[in-house]
Amino acid sequence: MSEQSLTITDNRTGKTYSVPITDGTIRAMDLRQIKVDPEDFGLMSHDPGFNNTSSCRSAITYIDGEKGILRYRGYPIEQLAENSSYLETAYLILNGELPTRPELDAWVYEITHRTMVHENIKKLMDGFQYDAHPMGMLISTIAALSTFYPNARKIKDSAVRRLQISRLIAKMPTIAAYAYRKRMGLPYVYPDNTLSYTGNFLKMMFQMADSYQPHPVLERALDVLFILHADHEQNCGTNAMRSVSSSNVDPYSAMAGAAAALYGPLHGGANEQVLRMLQDIGSVDNVPEFITKVKNRETLLMGFGHRVYKNYDPRAAIVKKMAYEVFEVTGRNPLLDIALELERIALEDEYFIERKLYPNVDFYTGIIYQAMRFPVDMFPVLFAIPRTVGWLAQWEESREDKETSIARPRQIYTGYNERDFVPVEKRS
Ligand code: ACO
Repeated sequence: MSEQSLTITDNRTGKTYSVPITDGTIRAMDLRQIKVDPEDFGLMSHDPGFNNTSSCRSAITYIDGEKGILRYRGYPIEQLAENSSYLETAYLILNGELPTRPELDAWVYEITHRTMVHENIKKLMDGFQYDAHPMGMLISTIAALSTFYPNARKIKDSAVRRLQISRLIAKMPTIAAYAYRKRMGLPYVYPDNTLSYTGNFLKMMFQMADSYQPHPVLERALDVLFILHADHEQNCGTNAMRSVSSSNVDPYSAMAGAAAALYGPLHGGANEQVLRMLQDIGSVDNVPEFITKVKNRETLLMGFGHRVYKNYDPRAAIVKKMAYEVFEVTGRNPLLDIALELERIALEDEYFIERKLYPNVDFYTGIIYQAMRFPVDMFPVLFAIPRTVGWLAQWEESREDKETSIARPRQIYTGYNERDFVPVEKRS
C-alpha cells in the first residue's frame, strides 16, 4: 500500500478503502465509492464556506496564515512593497516573472494607453441616482463593459483574453474616478497619459478648476496599497471570479460578480466598516467600553480576524508603518489614536489571543484613505481597482487549467420527501 494514501474504514459496512493523498489532499470524488449499498449515492464531504477544501491548483499567491507570510509568485510582499510598483507587480502576478526593462516599459505603455472609456460609459453612469454608492456604480459598469466588447466572450482565445485583461486593468481607475465624480456632481476628468497609474487616478479623482499634480508621497503610498491588495489567493471575491467564469461567461460579467463579492462588509467592505466603527467609538476613552461590547458579542471588531491569517496580517504591518509617512503630508488623522488603542488592548486581551484575532489589512487602510481625502464609500472601490489583476490572473490560470469544470457543489437536502399537490381550496 502506498505511503501516500489514506485508509478509511466505513463503520457502517466494515469495508476498508484506500484513497490516494496528493499534495496533502484527498480528492473528494474518491469518497464517492464509499457506499452502504449499490443504490447509495456515495459519501460526500460537507464544507460550507470552504474552510478545508482546496478548489484549484494555483501558482500565483502563497500564504502561510500561521506564520503571517504572503508571497506573489514567490516574492515576499515586504520586498515588493519596498521595491516594486503596482504595474510591475501586476505584470509579475499575470506572467509569473518580473519583467525586463523593455517588457516593463511596453506593459506600462499598453496600460496607460487603454485608460479611456467609451463616451457612452459616461451616459450610462449619468443614469445613476445622485447618491448612488460608488461600489454599486463600479460593479454595474464593469458588467456593462461586456456589452461594449462583445468579442470578449471568445474566452478560449488567449489573445482575446489578454486584451480584456489589459482593458480591465487600465479602465478600472477611470470608472472608479467617474463613479466618485458622479457622486459629487463634478465633471468627469479624462485620463492623463503623462502620469503614473496611481498619479493619474488621483488626478481623475481630485482635479478641480486648477491644474493638479499628485503629491509624490501620496502617489507612492497609493501604489504600495495597490501592491498589497493585488492578490490574495482563493478569497471570497476570487472564488466568485473562478466560480462565475467556470460557466465560460466573458470576463467582464465574471469580474462584476467578483467585485460584488468584494463589496460585502465581511470582505472588501470591511475597511469602510472599520472607519465607521472608529468614528462611532469617537475617542480613546470609549475604547474599553467598545471592547467589552465585542466580547459580549454585541458587535465585531471590524478589521480584526481573518479566515487564513492566525497571526499579524503582513500587509497590516506595512500599512501601519506607511500611515505615519502619509500623515507627514496630510496631517495626523485623529482616528489613528483610537485604532492604536484598540489594537493595543485587543492584542493583550485573552478573548482575542485565544481566537488568534489580529489586525487584518483593512484595519489601517481606511484611516490612510480618509487622510488622503477619499470618502468612506470609495474604500471598497480602492480595494477593487488593484484586486482586478488578481481576479484576472486567477481567471487566466483557470482557463488554462485542464481540471477546471463548471463550479457546481452538492448539497445535503433537508426538505420534504415527495408529497402530493393540494389545491388551494383544500389548504388550511
Ligand atoms: N471581532 C470579534 N470577534 C471575532 C472577530 C472580530 N472581528 N472575528 C472573529 N471573531 C470571533 C468569532 O466570534 C469566533 O468566536 P467563537 O469561536 O467564540 O464563536 C471566532 O473569533 C472565530 O471566528 P470565525 O467567524 O469563525 O472566523 P472566520 O475565519 O469564519 O471569519 C472573518 C473571518 C469573516 C474575517 C471574521 O474574522 C470577521 O468577521 N472579521 C471582521 C470583518 C473583517 O475585518 N473582514 C476583513 C477580512 S480581510 C479581507 O477580506 C481583506
